[in-house]
Amino acid sequence: MIHIVPKPTDTPGDNSTAMVEREIRTLGGSCRSLDLDAIDPFATDLSGELIWACGLKQDEHQFEVLQALSISNTVVNSPLSIFTCASKVMTSALLVRHGIATPLTLFTASRDTAERFLDEQGRAVIKPVYGYDGNGIFLIDSPEQLGNPPFYLQEYVPNDHDYRVFVIDGTAVGAIARVSDTLAHNIHQGGTGMPVDVTPEMQEVAGAAARAVGVDYGGVDLLATRDGYCVLEVNGTPNWHCMAAPIPRLLAGYLLEKERLLRK
Ligand SMILES: Nc1ncnc2c1ncn2[C@@H]1O[C@H](COP(=O)(O)OP(=O)(O)O)[C@@H](O)[C@H]1O
Ligand SMILES: [Mg+2]
Repeated sequence: MIHIVPKPTDTPGDNSTAMVEREIRTLGGSCRSLDLDAIDPFATDLSGELIWACGLKQDEHQFEVLQALSISNTVVNSPLSIFTCASKVMTSALLVRHGIATPLTLFTASRDTAERFLDEQGRAVIKPVYGYDGNGIFLIDSPEQLGNPPFYLQEYVPNDHDYRVFVIDGTAVGAIARVSDTLAHNIHQGGTGMPVDVTPEMQEVAGAAARAVGVDYGGVDLLATRDGYCVLEVNGTPNWHCMAAPIPRLLAGYLLEKERLLRK
C-alpha cells in the first residue's frame, strides 16, 4: 500500500495525483490518500510504510507533519530533499559544492556587497529564496531595484527559452523546452512547453543536480550556455506538464519498486 499526499493544486481537469494513482493500480499496486491535515504526528500507527508526496501545501503544517512521519516511514521525496529544493540558497550551495554548472550567484544581507555584484554584472536576476513558479523573479540593473535584504542575486544568462528535465532515480526520462517573451519561462508565467529529446549533456547535468540535492525524482531547470547547460534549480514536487514521456507510468513504476524493496 502506497500512502499518497495529494498535490494541493490538483484540479478535476489537471489532476497529477490521480494520474499516478491510476497507473499504480494498472501495474497491480494499491494506494490510498493520506490527509496530512488530519493526522496526529505524535499518535499515528503509520509505520514502515511508503509515503509519496505528490505535492505539499506551502504552509507551516504539512511539511512538519511529513517530516515527523519520516521518522518511521520512507517518504518520497525525502522531506530534507523537498526542503533543500524549496530553498534556492541550499540548492545553489549544493550545486556549487558538487561542481555542477550554475550561474554565478550571490546571497548576502549586505546592501554594499549586493550593489557591487550588480555593478560588476551590469544587470542581475533577483529571486525570492523560497520562490516558485517564476514568482517574484526580476532582471534588475540599478541599486534602487534591490528591495530589502537578504539578496539572492544571479548572473543573467541571456536566453529566449529554458529547459525542464524530469529525472527519476538519476535518469533524465523526459524534457521540455519552455518559451515565453518574459524573463521567467515557467508554464505558470504563461510559458509554452514542448517536448525535446534528452541529450547526453542534459542527462549528465540534470542527473548530477538531482543527486546533489538528494531527490528520488525531480524537475531540473536548465539554461543553455556556450559550454553546454547550467542548472537553475531542482523542483522536489514537480509537475510534468507538456512532457511527451509517460511520467505517471514511470513514477508509478518507481514507487512500486521502492515499496517492493521496503518489504524485502
Ligand atoms: N540567472 C538567470 N538568467 C536568465 N534567466 C533566468 C535566470 N534564473 C531564472 N531565470 C528564468 O526564470 C525562471 C524561474 O527561475 P527559477 O530559478 O527556476 O525559479 P522558480 O522556482 O520560480 O521556478 C527560469 O526557468 C528561467 O526562465
Ligand atoms: Mg523553476
